[in-house]
Amino acid sequence: MTRTYQDLFVNNKKWVQEVTEQKPDFFNKLSAGQQPKFLWIGCSDSRVPAEKLTGALPGELFVHRNIANVVIHSDMSMLSVLDYAVNVLEVEHIIVCGHYGCGGVAVAMGNKQVGLIDNWLRYIKDVYRLHQDELNAIDDYHKKLDRLVELNIQEQVYGLTTTSIVQNAWSQGKPLEVHGMVYDLKTGLLNDLHISRTDSSVIDNVYRLEPEYV
Ligand code: CO
Repeated sequence: MTRTYQDLFVNNKKWVQEVTEQKPDFFNKLSAGQQPKFLWIGCSDSRVPAEKLTGALPGELFVHRNIANVVIHSDMSMLSVLDYAVNVLEVEHIIVCGHYGCGGVAVAMGNKQVGLIDNWLRYIKDVYRLHQDELNAIDDYHKKLDRLVELNIQEQVYGLTTTSIVQNAWSQGKPLEVHGMVYDLKTGLLNDLHISRTDSSVIDNVYRLEPEYV
């Protein structure tokens, strides 16, 4: 259990001991640099730890997390992570991972004011509006929420494909795939939404950018 601030340091020492017993050169090797193949964009929710649930080791996932895993085109933090991951680390996979029962998505689906975060979650209301015919036809609250969680991932994956960063990577012939998945808190399992994108053919014309250098 991790309850107190001091627990973090006690657990850290234990972890270092365990890792070094199995692989004495683990930290030495890792300190030389990182070559992750994956960029993970997930929710900040404490129950969705990217490395734990994928079995990834340190050095294998480049991670960006925010509330309700949204890709907002004016978010400098997300854009910097994306640009660095694609153009410097040259990751081959970008994953947007949501989770069923996401509190952020639930707030966006409702009408209560929560505070500052309402502005951040406003983008998920846009997802609802885009898919309102389908969502309004679902009576069960939890089913509707889970479907909005999935549609939110679908729209964030789409949003990623329309960024100049991803479009330029594709026009330069870089092997880059964008994937969407949802984590189930009740089972611990990942649900692949099978919406992986590997080229710009899925992008609507209005979002298309001509290659940067011609
Ligand atoms: Co969440």
